[in-house]
Amino acid sequence: MTGAAAQQPTVREVYQQFAQCEAAGQSVVFEQWAAGVAADPEVCAVIDTLPGVKRQPNLVFAAARWHGLEPGPYGALRRFLLERWNELVPTIMRRRTQTNEAGRCAQLVPLLASLPQPLALIEVGASAGLTLVPDRYSYAYHCDEADAVRLDPDDGPSPLVLHSELHGIRPPSSLPLVVWRAGVDLDPIDPRDPDARAWLETLVWPGEDDRLARLRAALDLAAADPVPIVRGDLLDELPGLVAQAPAGATLVVFHSAVIVYLDDAERQRFRDLVTSLPCRWVSNEGATVFPDLSGSVEATRPAGSGHHLLSLDGVPVGWAQGHGRSLTWLSNPLPPQHNETP
Ligand SMILES: C[S@@+](CC[C@H](N)C(=O)[O-])C[C@H]1O[C@@H](n2cnc3c(N)ncnc32)[C@H](O)[C@@H]1O
Repeated sequence: MTGAAAQQPTVREVYQQFAQCEAAGQSVVFEQWAAGVAADPEVCAVIDTLPGVKRQPNLVFAAARWHGLEPGPYGALRRFLLERWNELVPTIMRRRTQTNEAGRCAQLVPLLASLPQPLALIEVGASAGLTLVPDRYSYAYHCDEADAVRLDPDDGPSPLVLHSELHGIRPPSSLPLVVWRAGVDLDPIDPRDPDARAWLETLVWPGEDDRLARLRAALDLAAADPVPIVRGDLLDELPGLVAQAPAGATLVVFHSAVIVYLDDAERQRFRDLVTSLPCRWVSNEGATVFPDLSGSVEATRPAGSGHHLLSLDGVPVGWAQGHGRSLTWLSNPLPPQHNETP
């Protein structure tokens, strides 16, 4: 990156933004908690003692819940944070928001299926690998002016059916064909580890019972057939993984809700790296992560909370609701090319 680093938002701004743009309409409790923190200088000052990346509302709230706070009014969170802060800090420092959302696969599938098949997939920031197996889930797509469309893996319906709304695009006729997959994460999660599973459940926002059920079902599937995930930094490990991918398949490097954890210089390094490698690049990240990409289509962003920008090779293709609930395709859809050879 060149020039001065962008100024970091304040704790008040981060929590205000979270309340208004992410939690609103998704979790009443988190909306109230985040708005409460934003309006509370004493609590903001306490959270401000954390390193930048650890000030995330979801991480701080999850730590409080991990230590016994039940979802409820802001006053209870306030007391908990002020009275038990020393207890929470080690949890906040040791753990990460490794939220896995299998539902995001419903947004990846139309894009992945439009690429020449078969596919080799590399997910950076794969966590427990639940978004690295889009071909193992069933889908129920609810489309504009059409009946729901169901897609199942070749070997039959999956125990996990992902429901999603598609706007401006039809679902593909079949699931992508994945012949190879690999992931990298700073801290891969073993889907069989009870402690890790409990932390992932704590990360699910209060009131989002559909996400909890999805998480448990996807973890069970992953535990039965885990995917290979290398431990390490994506900037270091990606070239080695790309070198291992088999010939004869379209290699796709993808990520969702990961690049947001990199600072501006690292984001640029990642972008330079991925665009220099022999692969397609699918990004599913918050709108602020690559502002030059989202800025060009900002006017098309759907109303409501938490839409990620879905892009292919640095070109915006759609707005993806942050937890997989909908995909709004942009007006320049890619022609479906299913079953083309790479
Ligand atoms: C919020 S999770 C997203 C998991 C999954 N992609 C999904 O959408 O459900 C973000 C993951 O990125 C990983 N991560 C963050 N920075 C990373 C880095 N520099 N290298 C590798 N993994 C990283 C974290 O450990 C975490 O597991």
